[in-house]
Amino acid sequence: MRKKVYITTPIYYVNDIPHIGHAYTTIIADSLARYYRLTGYDTFFLTGTDEHGQKIEQSALSRGKSAKEYADEVSAKFKALWDDFEISYDYFIRTTDENHKKGAQKAFEVMLGNGDIYKGEYEGHYCVSCETFFTDSQLINNEYCPDCGRSTTLVKEESYFFRLSKYQDKLLEWYQNVDDCVMPKAKKNEVISFVKQGLRDLSITRTSFDWGIKLPASLNDSKHVLYVWLDALVNYISALGYGTDEKHIDFWPADFHLVGKDILRFHSIYWPAFLMSLGLDLPKHIAAHGWWTRNGEKMSKSKGNVVNPREVADTYGLESFRFFLLREVPFGQDGDFSQKALIDRINSDLGNELGNLLNRIIGMSGKYSNHELDSSNVLRFYAKEIDSVQEILNGVEGYMKELQTNKYLEELWKVLTIANQSITLHEPWAKIKEGKKDEALALIALVANILAKVSILFSPIMPKTAKAIGESLGFDISTAEYNRLIVKKELLKPTVLKVISPLFPRVETELMQTAQSTPALKEESKKEEGLINIDKFFASKIQIGTVIKAEAVEKSDRLLKLLVDIGEGSPRQIISGIKAYYKPEELSGTQVCVVTNLKPAKIMGLESYGMILSAQDENGLSLIRPEHLKKSGAIIK
Ligand code: ME8
Ligand code: MG
Repeated sequence: MRKKVYITTPIYYVNDIPHIGHAYTTIIADSLARYYRLTGYDTFFLTGTDEHGQKIEQSALSRGKSAKEYADEVSAKFKALWDDFEISYDYFIRTTDENHKKGAQKAFEVMLGNGDIYKGEYEGHYCVSCETFFTDSQLINNEYCPDCGRSTTLVKEESYFFRLSKYQDKLLEWYQNVDDCVMPKAKKNEVISFVKQGLRDLSITRTSFDWGIKLPASLNDSKHVLYVWLDALVNYISALGYGTDEKHIDFWPADFHLVGKDILRFHSIYWPAFLMSLGLDLPKHIAAHGWWTRNGEKMSKSKGNVVNPREVADTYGLESFRFFLLREVPFGQDGDFSQKALIDRINSDLGNELGNLLNRIIGMSGKYSNHELDSSNVLRFYAKEIDSVQEILNGVEGYMKELQTNKYLEELWKVLTIANQSITLHEPWAKIKEGKKDEALALIALVANILAKVSILFSPIMPKTAKAIGESLGFDISTAEYNRLIVKKELLKPTVLKVISPLFPRVETELMQTAQSTPALKEESKKEEGLINIDKFFASKIQIGTVIKAEAVEKSDRLLKLLVDIGEGSPRQIISGIKAYYKPEELSGTQVCVVTNLKPAKIMGLESYGMILSAQDENGLSLIRPEHLKKSGAIIK
């Protein structure tokens, strides 16, 4: 039977454009998948998008789009980026796919059937940005999310619960018995101490919005949608056909769930507990990496400090970018993105130590042997060098499988150092002068063989570079060549070297404008002047709205609830503090000015999707209205 491996990335929320944090996880997973394919495994590599839940619904609404329309758009952006980056995923899952929905519903039914789900009422705090429930004692200053620092909302609603508490001991047993089920160690210990504090049952349905997967029809309970994290985690099995055709189910259990440390808790506690309830095997490794930061702060769209991966790849090359991401930071630790660090890697590791090495042997072999390359004398003259090379290469596999890509690459570069040093030491040009052409040509062949072996091993990380080197030296990047040159430790077949242009031209200065100073800093200097530019003004979207309906909000002497048409098809609900100045009946049919791209807010428990403009002085408050009737949705500028 063929060896199998199943590798996943998180499915990314569609409320955000992809940034280098997302690219990092995906590129590690891609490199790992390529490594396993190269070494002869059947590989299933899954990525995709997480599209349901309150956060996505709100993002869509604030852009005046339907949730599905918006999810389609952003999901396509993720997919397009991965395609342009030649990410070798086998399947791209969307949680809005019908098959996924069936998988999630089946999981709910099975857990219910096993007595792990019961109905009750949830009362507690919810962070929409993290899609996470919190208890009083977990909040910061009684209000703020302990994970992201945003304000939370108090939720009280009917809910189905999963008996998470029942799995506490079984989880602890699993952490104890399976050494590297959660990686790295330090993170695993954090998970263990969290679980030891005690697990509460988990609310797994919501009733206050619609944008989610419905409960299985058999429950006949249409008020509820699945909690987005239950929905999302099930993607790892629904992608294999769980709940539908089970087409790829024999890839289960996953070998690697790659995640960032922000979502380790969901993966290392909820997910294995769900799987235990479903009677499925547990994943072999849940591996959490650290964060990419800018000036020490986690990169995230809401902070406005993200680096666009497409821009980095377009500017410095995708291969260099991949190398940098995997070489620069030890797995599990945070890394600060800087162009300077990237440029150093390009000029020294890639340019000097790799690219130049290839150029040198192309040059010398052109001069001394018409580019003919023959390895038959390598062992005769350079057995010692080959031994040292082999010794290092024998030890690298473990680093890759433990996701220590920085160590893996560091070791491979030690091998390149052996090649570079042997040229300096043995001076082939001197040997030619001394009439020892055999030795000189064998040295060139030694270096070519080192380059070949190293290239095959770094091909999962820099596939195009490896391929180009292979084309020059007469081998290809394949499992067959891996077996021959790495496993059986053979040497290159006689060939004629092809001249190729330098792989990594030197980069003299920082090439990206946008990433040089952070938006946060730019913002500050503008604030000092007290002036804004036009872009900043247009960051607020203000539109003409026609009031369709207005009514008083009960128990409030300030608030009116309005339905306002802004030309989107369906009107928006807006809660406005104008009750003291306007009667509901005098508003219907009139026009107002609405800020339409504000984050939705909850006012006295009611969602509000916009703000109505007014002006107030000592004589009271007036709405701002167009002088003549305008189309609903017309932009104000
Ligand atoms: O959490 N540095 O999606 P998400 C490194 N939909 N990695 C980062 C990063 C950063 N600054 N920012 C994001 C979700 N990431 C859920 C997942 S899975 C069943 C559901 C990466 O869009 C990292 O992998 O918020 C992190 O875990 C993930 O993006 C979060 O993506
Ligand atoms: Mg996130």
